[in-house]
Amino acid sequence: MASSPLSPHHLLLATFISLSFHLSLTLSLSPDFYPLISFKAASDPSNKLSQWNSTSPDPCSWHGVSCLPRNRRVSAIVLENLNLTGSILPLTSLSHLRILSLKANRFHGPLPPSLANLSSLTLLYLNHNHFSGPLPPSLTALTRLFRLDLSHNSLSGPIPLSLNRFSRLLTLRLHLNNFHGHLPNLSLPNLVDFNVSSNHLSGPIPLSLSSFPQSAFSHNSPSLCGPPLTQCTHKAIPALASPLNPRNDTVFSPQRRTPKLGLMLLLLIVLADLLVLAFVSLLLYCYFCRKRNHSGEGKEVRDSKERGEDSQMVFFEGEKRFQLDDLLRASAEMLGKGVFGTAYKAVLHDGTLVAVKRIKEVSVGGKREFHQRMQELGSLRHCNLVAFRAYYFAKHEKLLVSDYMPNASLSYLLHGNRGPGRTPLDWSSRVKLAGGAARGVAFLHDNKVTHGNIKSTNVLVDVAGNARIADFGLSIFAAPTTPNAYRAPDARKHTHMSDVYSFGVLLLEILTGKCPSAEAPDLPRWVRSVVREEWTAEVFDLELMSYRDVEEEMVAMLHIAIACTATAPDQRPTMSHVANMIQDLRPAGTRTQSFN
Ligand SMILES: *[C@@H]1O[C@H](CO)[C@@H](O)[C@H](O)[C@H]1NC(C)=O
Ligand SMILES: *[C@@H]1O[C@H](CO)[C@@H](O)[C@H](O)[C@H]1NC(C)=O
Ligand SMILES: *[C@@H]1O[C@H](CO)[C@@H](O)[C@H](O)[C@H]1NC(C)=O
Ligand SMILES: *[C@@H]1O[C@H](CO)[C@@H](O)[C@H](O)[C@H]1NC(C)=O
Ligand SMILES: *[C@@H]1O[C@H](CO)[C@@H](O)[C@H](O)[C@H]1NC(C)=O
Ligand SMILES: *[C@@H]1O[C@H](CO)[C@@H](O)[C@H](O)[C@H]1NC(C)=O
Repeated sequence: MASSPLSPHHLLLATFISLSFHLSLTLSLSPDFYPLISFKAASDPSNKLSQWNSTSPDPCSWHGVSCLPRNRRVSAIVLENLNLTGSILPLTSLSHLRILSLKANRFHGPLPPSLANLSSLTLLYLNHNHFSGPLPPSLTALTRLFRLDLSHNSLSGPIPLSLNRFSRLLTLRLHLNNFHGHLPNLSLPNLVDFNVSSNHLSGPIPLSLSSFPQSAFSHNSPSLCGPPLTQCTHKAIPALASPLNPRNDTVFSPQRRTPKLGLMLLLLIVLADLLVLAFVSLLLYCYFCRKRNHSGEGKEVRDSKERGEDSQMVFFEGEKRFQLDDLLRASAEMLGKGVFGTAYKAVLHDGTLVAVKRIKEVSVGGKREFHQRMQELGSLRHCNLVAFRAYYFAKHEKLLVSDYMPNASLSYLLHGNRGPGRTPLDWSSRVKLAGGAARGVAFLHDNKVTHGNIKSTNVLVDVAGNARIADFGLSIFAAPTTPNAYRAPDARKHTHMSDVYSFGVLLLEILTGKCPSAEAPDLPRWVRSVVREEWTAEVFDLELMSYRDVEEEMVAMLHIAIACTATAPDQRPTMSHVANMIQDLRPAGTRTQSFN
């Protein structure tokens, strides 16, 4: 049929179809078509944007243009290094624009007077052009901006205080322009990337900006002063400067200091109380346990002592042995309560630290089942697992002994102590921990063990900074558990594929900085909806936004997480595939982090 010659009838039909196709496209022409065409007419004398013409009237297919899938409106324009010139005025009517990057072109003249229609912009890069004149007042309409880069232009006039409207701003780069006047008292809590060097600024640097490095202020008027530059001669001014300073409020607002101290004290008291309570319960526990031994109830233990070996404290191969008594005599500190029981940190008499978990009575199966399971789990050794060392099983007491991990859990590293003064968990560390955790879970799956309870509090960090998966394989002892934020919607029982889902939620937690149980009960759904709207930049943890050059890796990791949390279990990748994908995110050692 395809090889048969076309009849005139066919040709007519084809012409008609193509005509009506063209007609329908023209009729539903995107409202963004004409602004873009007039932009090209004014700015592209060397016809670098040759595709931008009415032969293909859908702007979404043009070079440098992306659209929202939902309504086919132009959402991003990235035209860098194309020798474009003239003005960007026609672009100001693109009311759905979120990303505009025109860096390294030859645009000149003032910035457009009205930017109000661009209020959805999140990223605006106009650096390395020849823009001149002052910042238009309407710039402050762009309240959603994360990044504003106007560096390497000829902009002049003052830097307005109204930039404080950009409460989400992470990046403000105004260096290599002709700005003059004093620096305003900027109070931008998320600002991490700031540069006003090589302008004509003068006067004191407000305290809120004094934590940025010297090079962010260099090459201005010699009268620009105060930390991090030389001390001002009028020394009263910096002291007055910023009562609203978000970076160092403890020092400059003594009225807040007292409650803070009070809170610390309260926390200390509560902590001390908890410690004492743990001690007392352990002592009581020891007492009763011995009593039981003497009254014959702890026969097994006593018998074993008589034989010189504990028949119930079972050690896995190659492990240093100790007696149950050693454990019971050890000083202990509660680490936390989980689904399966309560965990303690115990110091044996020789100084060895171990983690001891007391399994809840109700949740345990029979003795034989327990022994069998523990033999399986106890033999698993991997650099990304917290190894089990021993276990103890008696009618009234089931204990699991494993290595103690002195460093925090991933959960603490991500969510603990947020706010000023916190050291954010950097991107390299997040990738490293995610990769290690993935390898740990993949190893379990290779050994036919389902973890059953993957979450950030079960990803511990060892002395070398490696992720180690804890509490694996215990889900078969658990009573039917309540749903949690990591559980796959389809999971009625624990499977490898439900582990993959939970791991996907963990990855989303690493990327977004949101705590699944508290802040975002359905993290996967939230992320999918945000990504669908092409607001991808908004899902990432604000603490990660300071790392340049890694956005690509973050987006790649996001796609892995989205694949893991697919609703249909058979569409999820296997854990070893996930581990490989995370490993491939960054060719080893080729990336360096920049943080400034
Ligand atoms: C118009 O765009 C098409 C591709 O979309 C290209 O093939 C054609 O050469 C362009 N026409 C002109 C006049 O630049
Ligand atoms: C840029 O445009 C100017 C004039 O429009 C032209 O002279 C110059 O050669 C162009 N440069 C490049 C790299 O295309
Ligand atoms: C803003 O958008 C409206 C509606 O699209 C349009 O009428 C108006 O001219 C635009 N303003 C500017 C300055 O482009
Ligand atoms: C900053 O704030 C202080 C006190 O609030 C004020 O004296 C000073 O003039 C302000 N500086 C600028 C540049 O607005
Ligand atoms: C600021 O920009 C200058 C170039 O004008 C550069 O040398 C300096 O390293 C930058 N400093 C920061 C902190 O970005
Ligand atoms: C707060 O100010 C004090 C005293 O100037 C300084 O030692 C400390 O490093 C500052 N802290 C932060 C987070 O900037």
